[in-house]
Amino acid sequence: EKDGYDWFMRKEIFEQPRAIADSLLGRHDDSGKLQLDEIRMSEDELRDVDKIIITACGTAFYAGLVAKYAIEHWTRIPCEVELAHEFRYRDPILTRDTLVVAISQSGETADTLMAIRHAREQRAKVLAICNTNGSTIPRESDAVIYTHAGPEIGVASTKGFMTQLIACYLLGLYLAQVRGTRFGDEIASVVDELAGLPAKVEQVLGQADQIYALAQDLQDARSVLFLGRHAGFPVALEGALKLKELAYIHAEGFAAGELKHGPIALIEEGLPVFCVVPPPGRDLLHDKMISGMQEVRARGARMIVLAEEGDDAVDDYADVIFRLPKASTLLQPVAAVVPLQLFACELATLMGHDVDQPRNLAKSVTVE
Ligand code: BG6
Repeated sequence: EKDGYDWFMRKEIFEQPRAIADSLLGRHDDSGKLQLDEIRMSEDELRDVDKIIITACGTAFYAGLVAKYAIEHWTRIPCEVELAHEFRYRDPILTRDTLVVAISQSGETADTLMAIRHAREQRAKVLAICNTNGSTIPRESDAVIYTHAGPEIGVASTKGFMTQLIACYLLGLYLAQVRGTRFGDEIASVVDELAGLPAKVEQVLGQADQIYALAQDLQDARSVLFLGRHAGFPVALEGALKLKELAYIHAEGFAAGELKHGPIALIEEGLPVFCVVPPPGRDLLHDKMISGMQEVRARGARMIVLAEEGDDAVDDYADVIFRLPKASTLLQPVAAVVPLQLFACELATLMGHDVDQPRNLAKSVTVE
């Protein structure tokens, strides 16, 4: 059932183009209008929402961090993202007009479940983004958007994360559509970009062999850093989490702008540093990222750069470059996370670890 792959995880990474397509299926029409009536919240209820709190654990939390950038930009509704176990025990401010979005692949994570129970007791509306039909979290929520990743067996989430991103984008666009924000005219073009994502992910998967070669080179690394900005920051966090989970090495993700406020002290000769570079153009993000990379490179780090095709501004600061297909800043995480998943899977394989069942971890953690 692994279809010739050595691990479920690797199979699931390669299933992502299909998982994205399935998660988009039937949710928009050709004109770019979103159809998300399945969430079963009235348009009036959605128009009344004055705050969104996304809550989740692990990889799902990082999907939530990406979602914040997109949802706030598209809807102008204030959006917080909080780890479920922190949210639950801090007396968060919740009203009838707060929409709590719980993201969970399994739908059984106890920390996330306790968070939504608390939210509902405070009369907030709860919407679940979940991959498991009929599981506890969607059953206890007011509304649900199912991701259609198919069963995810590998403990470390890959296609689960990917389809969570898609569901979050759909939610943000749907809210923008229902509420008629000034972003309205652009919805169709984002939907169009979403529809093109499976092919883009396929394109990144085509570079698997180069990523595997890099893993071979970095087998002895004891520590790896990941840098990103904006929507690329959660991608950096996810890249680091995958290495901790699978390769059991120290890995950390940082917002690139935060470097000079501390983490740059960690940089030493030969330290592998992955850089997720935002698409060039539009704003200053890209140039700021490059200047951060310059600082890191100057201190002797080994630079592994993920940058858009044609972005030659990175060339001078890279030891290895993986090219990402053109994307908007908000949607870039979809393609950018793929090399990081492949890298962690391969490195752990080379180190002789059980990739599908890493030590000390469980697929769904049903205790708080
Ligand atoms: C952890 C898993 O325990 O739970 C992670 O090991 C996962 O891979 C996290 O991201 C959250 O799980 P879920 O099912 O709520 O998305």
